[in-house]
Amino acid sequence: MTDQALSDINPLDPNILACPHAFNQRLREEAPVYLCPQTGVYFVSDYPTVVEIAKNEKLFSNEFSMIQAGEAPPRDLEMEAILKKGYRRVDTMLTADPPRQRRYRALCQKPFSASSVAKLRPYIENLANELIDDIIDDGKCNWMDAFAVPMPVRMIAYILGVPLSDMALFKEWSDANVYSFSAGQTREGALNAARLVVDFQHYFADKIESRKHQPTDDVLSDIVNSSADGEQPMDIEECLSVISQLLVAGNETTTSTFAEGMHLLATHPEQVKLVQDDPSLIPNMVEEMLRLSTPTAQMWRICKEDTQVGGVLIPAGATMMIKFGSANRDANQFSEPDSFDVTRDNLKTQIAFGQGVHHCLGAPLARQELIVGFEVILKRLTNFRLPEGEETLNFLPSLLLHPPADLNLIFDAR
Ligand code: HEM
Repeated sequence: MTDQALSDINPLDPNILACPHAFNQRLREEAPVYLCPQTGVYFVSDYPTVVEIAKNEKLFSNEFSMIQAGEAPPRDLEMEAILKKGYRRVDTMLTADPPRQRRYRALCQKPFSASSVAKLRPYIENLANELIDDIIDDGKCNWMDAFAVPMPVRMIAYILGVPLSDMALFKEWSDANVYSFSAGQTREGALNAARLVVDFQHYFADKIESRKHQPTDDVLSDIVNSSADGEQPMDIEECLSVISQLLVAGNETTTSTFAEGMHLLATHPEQVKLVQDDPSLIPNMVEEMLRLSTPTAQMWRICKEDTQVGGVLIPAGATMMIKFGSANRDANQFSEPDSFDVTRDNLKTQIAFGQGVHHCLGAPLARQELIVGFEVILKRLTNFRLPEGEETLNFLPSLLLHPPADLNLIFDAR
C-alpha cells in the first residue's frame, strides 16, 4: 500500500475497512482532511480536526440515514412488502440534529446516567461470574461465544426487560439491526435483515403498549413513559427507533472492546502483571483498550454550509467521514500510539465515545460493563495465551464499526 498513491486506494474497500491502521496513518501524515476522488467523501483523520467537527453540530449534521440506506435504490417490491408489515422508521438520537435530537436525549437520559448505571453493578458482576464459571475448568474457549458477545447482549436485554428464554432471538434482531453497516451486503441478506427487524418491531411494540398501560420497574418503562422537561412522551415509532439504536450502538461496540481488550492482554503479559498486582489500574486499562479498539471507528457527517476545515474548503451538502479510530492513534495526541500501556496518563482525552452533543449516551453503561467485566476476568483467570497459528486478531469489514472476527483463547484459573 505504501507505494500506491492515496488516490488509488478506496477507503471503503473491505480490506481497508477491516485493517485500517496503516491507511489511516498515511491519511494523517499526507492529507488529514482528504477528498477521496473515488467516493467523493471527505475523510477526516487527525485528532484536532475530528474533535473540531464532532463538537460543531451546527455546521456538521448527523442527519445521514439517507446515505446509510444508499441513494435512491431501485424499487424492490419484495422489500416494500416486508417493510409494510412493520412500523415506519424515524430518525431519533444518532441520526437527528438538535433540537429534535435534544428532545430524545432528554427523554432517554435518566436510565443511562452514571448514578442509574451504578445500581447495575451487582447484576453485571453476577453475569460476568456466571460466564466465567462456564469456562474456567476447560482452560480454553471461544472468547466471542463465551464472553464478548453474551455479556453486552444480556445486559441490554436485561435493561429492556427481555427474558433469557428470548435471548437467541434477541441476538438475531440485534445483528439484523446492524446489517446496514456491514460491507458487501447482498439482496438476500438485506431481505432477511428486514424480516427480522419487522419481527423485532412487533415484539417490542407489544412490550411498549403493555408498559404504557402498566409501567414496571425497568428501563423500558422509563423510556416509554418518560416526559422530561415537559416533553411529550415518545410515540410507538419513536420508541422503536430508540430501542433499535440502543441495540445497534450498544452491542457490537462493547463486544469489540471485550474481544480486542482480551487479545491485548493475551499479547502483553507484562501489562497483565501490572493490573493484577494493582487492580486500581483497571479503569485506566479500560480507557486504553477503548482508545486502541475504538469500536465506532468512523461516523458520517453532512456539511451544512461552505466552510474551511484544516485548510480545505468543504462545500455545503458534502458527505464527510470523521475517523474516531484514527484520531485515537494520532501520534501528536498519544505518544507511541500503537502501543498498549495501562499506565498511559492522558486517556481522559481518548474519543472512542465521540465528542459534543452526540457523545455516547451509553458511555457510563459501557464503561461499567468493561470495568466490572475485566475486574472479574483478571481476578479469576490468568496467563492468557493464543493458540498457535492464531496470534493475529482479524476484523470484519464494516462501514462504521471495527468488529473482531473471532478469538480463541487459552488461560489458567488464578
Ligand atoms: C464500547 C462501547 C461503545 C462505544 C465505543 C460507543 C461509541 C459511540 C460513539 C462514538 C457515538 C457518537 C456518534 C457520533 O458522534 O455521531 C455514540 C453514540 C451513541 N451511543 Fe454509544 N458506544 C458504546 C456503547 C453504547 C451503549 C452500551 C449504548 C446504549 C445501550 C450506546 C448508545 C448510544 C446512543 C443512543 C448514541 C447516540 C447518541 C446521540 O446521538 O445523541 N452506546 N456511541
